[in-house]
Amino acid sequence: MEDVVGRLIAEIGQNSSGADGLRLAAVRIADLDGPGGYEEERRLAATLPARRRAEFLAGRAAAHRALAGAGLDDGPVLFEGRRPRPPAAARVSISHSGGVAVALAGPADRYRTLGVDVELGGGPPLAAAHLVLGPAERAGGGLLDTGAPDAAEQLVALFSAKEAAFKALGPLVAPDELPGLRAVVFTPEPGPRARPDGGRCAGGSAWLAAPEARPDVRVRVTVRRLAAGVLSWALPVD
Ligand SMILES: CC(C)(COP(=O)(O)OP(=O)(O)OC[C@H]1O[C@@H](n2cnc3c(N)ncnc32)[C@H](O)[C@@H]1OP(=O)(O)O)[C@@H](O)C(=O)NCCC(=O)NCCS
Repeated sequence: MEDVVGRLIAEIGQNSSGADGLRLAAVRIADLDGPGGYEEERRLAATLPARRRAEFLAGRAAAHRALAGAGLDDGPVLFEGRRPRPPAAARVSISHSGGVAVALAGPADRYRTLGVDVELGGGPPLAAAHLVLGPAERAGGGLLDTGAPDAAEQLVALFSAKEAAFKALGPLVAPDELPGLRAVVFTPEPGPRARPDGGRCAGGSAWLAAPEARPDVRVRVTVRRLAAGVLSWALPVD
């Protein structure tokens, strides 16, 4: 079987540094050597079923690697609802897929919010497009070209972009203002035409995303198609 995780890690780096204090890290679940992490995290993990426990711990390991890279790793990453709650000076977002966890971290005084999503080797099937995209987004001229040969890949990329945006927008609005992925609305950034599915734009593409109920609250979403899958991240616009 193709080593998609190895390729992802090779592509984004174990701990790649981005602009402005952002760090992205990836950890393969199979490479975890014991539970590691903070005592509080190990206690939380012990309450989870085995599969979730491994995912959770890999997510925390990736988060600590990203936080350490940003110089912000000074405490456990606990929960707030299901959202990760990092040390006060930091923001962090976590995603897992196909045996790997990725985390994006940055300083709280520069990033009001962050979101990351990775999809490796799959995502929702085209038959589930209505769970991700609203009617206008699926209609002709909308975001998804259902007749295109790469429609399935387009949907996975749009799903990933919406998940990253959902994670970043959630802390900025009330829960009923962001009921799910269909409520995340994309608009193109002014400038050269790009697509939020990352297609036809070298190096990925950036769109703005906002809750349908709160068009004033926006994040910028970047989608990068990787050989192994899709990686998306969302950052505050300002
Ligand atoms: C929050 C959500 C985006 C997370 O997606 P997921 O499928 O669990 O996938 P990921 O692996 O990418 O992300 C999981 C991580 O996201 C983080 N997370 C969970 N809920 C979160 C939230 N509301 N906001 C920000 N981050 C969240 C957690 O760190 C979690 O990992 P952990 O539990 O090990 O700490 C998803 O569960 C969700 O609620 N989607 C919106 C509902 C919807 O419209 N669904 C239709 C799907 S077709």
